Amino acid sequence: MRSEDVQEKDEKVSRRDFLTISALATGALALLGIVAGVFRFFKSDASYEEARSFKIGKPENFPVGTFRNIADKKVFIVSDDAGVYAISSVCTHLGCLVYETDTGFQCPCHGSKYNQVGKVISGPAPRGLPWYEITQDVDGSLVVDSSREVPAGTKNRFS
Ligand code: FES
Repeated sequence: MRSEDVQEKDEKVSRRDFLTISALATGALALLGIVAGVFRFFKSDASYEEARSFKIGKPENFPVGTFRNIADKKVFIVSDDAGVYAISSVCTHLGCLVYETDTGFQCPCHGSKYNQVGKVISGPAPRGLPWYEITQDVDGSLVVDSSREVPAGTKNRFS
């Protein structure tokens, strides 16, 4: 067999392999497109995220001295002489729920401590507990929006 014949045969095999690979790749892309289309068809556009804005009641339910843990919303509602405010109960380290102590808040997971306004006293928490915006709805109820942080120390009086 001449070397040209061997080279020609190798080229034919290479072409065949190339065509096979091309056909398989095209088929795989087509299949991927079909799977993506089916997935999109069955995937609902509805969002099942928990509502981040919620009513907590009328201002008269939060007289000066109130400290309330709304556990299912992961927020503390506090009322003092300067006003009402909302502090997250989610530790800024890895997300465990903090609990109230005599000096502020503490995380049960890795021991982070926060003072009474949520500032970190000892780590590993990287930052203080977020404060959330509180507004008043047209029906007079106070509304906490945990998607909107406000500067620590933001307190409002409502009537
Ligand atoms: S999750 Fe709170 S200290 Fe780690």
